[in-house]
Amino acid sequence: MSKILVTSALPYINGVPHLGHMVGCLLPSDIYARFMRMMGNEVLYIGGTDEHGTTSEVGALKAGMDIRDYCDMYHKKHAEIYKDFRLSFDCFGRTSSEENKEATYHIFEQLDKNGFIEERVIKQVYSVDDKMFLADRYITGTCPYCGYDKARGDQCENCTKVLEPTDLKDARSSISGSKNLEVRETKHLFLNLPKLEKELEPWVKTKEPFWPDVAYTIAQKWLKEGLQSRCITRDLKWGFPVNKEGYEDKVFYVWFDAPIGYIGITKQWESEKPTERDWKDWWMNPENVRHVEFMGKDNVPYHSITFPATLLGTRENWTQVDFLKGFSYLTYEGGKFSKSENRGIFAEDAVKEFDADYWRYWLIANAPESSDAAFTWDLFVGAVNKDLNGVLGNFVSRVLKMTSSKLGDVVPEGGDYTDVEEELIATLQTRVNDYIKYMNEMEFRKALGELRAIWVEGNNYISVTEPWTVIKTDEQRAKVILRVCINLIRIFAILSAPIMPVISQKMLDKLGMEITGLNDFDVRKEINTLKGGEKFEVGDMLFERITPERVEELKAKYGSSK
Ligand code: MF3
Ligand code: ZN
Repeated sequence: MSKILVTSALPYINGVPHLGHMVGCLLPSDIYARFMRMMGNEVLYIGGTDEHGTTSEVGALKAGMDIRDYCDMYHKKHAEIYKDFRLSFDCFGRTSSEENKEATYHIFEQLDKNGFIEERVIKQVYSVDDKMFLADRYITGTCPYCGYDKARGDQCENCTKVLEPTDLKDARSSISGSKNLEVRETKHLFLNLPKLEKELEPWVKTKEPFWPDVAYTIAQKWLKEGLQSRCITRDLKWGFPVNKEGYEDKVFYVWFDAPIGYIGITKQWESEKPTERDWKDWWMNPENVRHVEFMGKDNVPYHSITFPATLLGTRENWTQVDFLKGFSYLTYEGGKFSKSENRGIFAEDAVKEFDADYWRYWLIANAPESSDAAFTWDLFVGAVNKDLNGVLGNFVSRVLKMTSSKLGDVVPEGGDYTDVEEELIATLQTRVNDYIKYMNEMEFRKALGELRAIWVEGNNYISVTEPWTVIKTDEQRAKVILRVCINLIRIFAILSAPIMPVISQKMLDKLGMEITGLNDFDVRKEINTLKGGEKFEVGDMLFERITPERVEELKAKYGSSK
């Protein structure tokens, strides 16, 4: 048993998550956490909301709300949506918590003490019409590197280059659109990344065999270009006031305290049961903890360079990221998700249309792992009707109905296996091993390919053995076949549980069984679990079939390419 610390990038509090957010870190991290628990590990799965920064300040302003109330409201909303999606966080916290403030102050003090903080006078963009300094994200302009004309002042989402707002050409305020911007001088604090570069570079090198290409390449690209000091303070009201003399009227930059939020949230988790839990067991225990982070690819530089450097500079024994899984983006019907243009299905509506497990299955089977993935209603409906309903659902109902009508609602007993069963066991064991290997490696598309193939083996088995014909001449043989099939239902349910926890339990309910572990999964042993004589229940179909009329309705409601 190992300790596995799983974190999912903390979504900005304002704005409602759409399917792209769900698949771009939240869902894969949950599936991994569930899988690792089923493999018998001790897992701590951390999530939360990223609450500081101008985005929230501006959001609250627009909503006419106090910033605290605004964040409270949205935090609750995020928590509800993730619960609906069955995300199994051990703690879902907030970057604005007292615990995170403590963690942030401590880390900053260490960095300062160790000489990694520099003071600099910088030029900052002040919007005369908005009467405020503009946060980097709130300045839009043309990227000097790739020419993208909607680059933000902190990062160009087109070429992923991290920018300073003054790099932008043709800069304008994203709040008012005003170009009446002035550059004013203010004093700020910087994290001296160049000073840490020499240590960071070999550290990143050690990650090459472990980090997926997307992550490793981005980190390497950054290092090759040479690191620059990053400003970690801002002239804002909403945030943690800087704990250093002369800087009391400034706050820490949102990207400074956000990743520290993982630690802060673990402290929140400790606060819930202080006698049983210790955040240091997870965060100051690198020898015994495997730390896996999930995020969208635009987050990779912060998690592979800035945050590790931040922890390194404290000269304390922090648990650093061991594996970093970055995702590309999900497109909606050939374009972008857009709340304002009413295009795309947002997480809270998605679960009103279909059970969350349908979404979990489709999204992870099509996760944007090596490149962008495309959501279209036709693809989604195709997978639900074909894979879930056609392959898995059909197998379950066919087997149970056939057994019930021919032999009663009891698992049939007696008889011996033939070569067909021996072959089935061998084939399944190979596939199960591959499935587990891919899940371990977080190769989700491949894992789901195996899972689907495992379900198909069930259908192949029943078509080859034809129990409905055999029963007329050899009842005992038919009993063996149907018993094997009923055991397959249980096996399919357990293997599917990290992905479709509720549907899996429904399958097991029919057999009066519970979800059990996945480690050392021995098909020969598992297939003999129900020995005969156990009662079962045919019950309802597992999945609904989506009709063509329903598809048209959904397209009309949420937008489509046609
Ligand atoms: N809020 C950021 C985003 O949505 C992610 C922050 S991840 C954290 O892009 F670890 F830094 F919190
Ligand atoms: Zn660019």
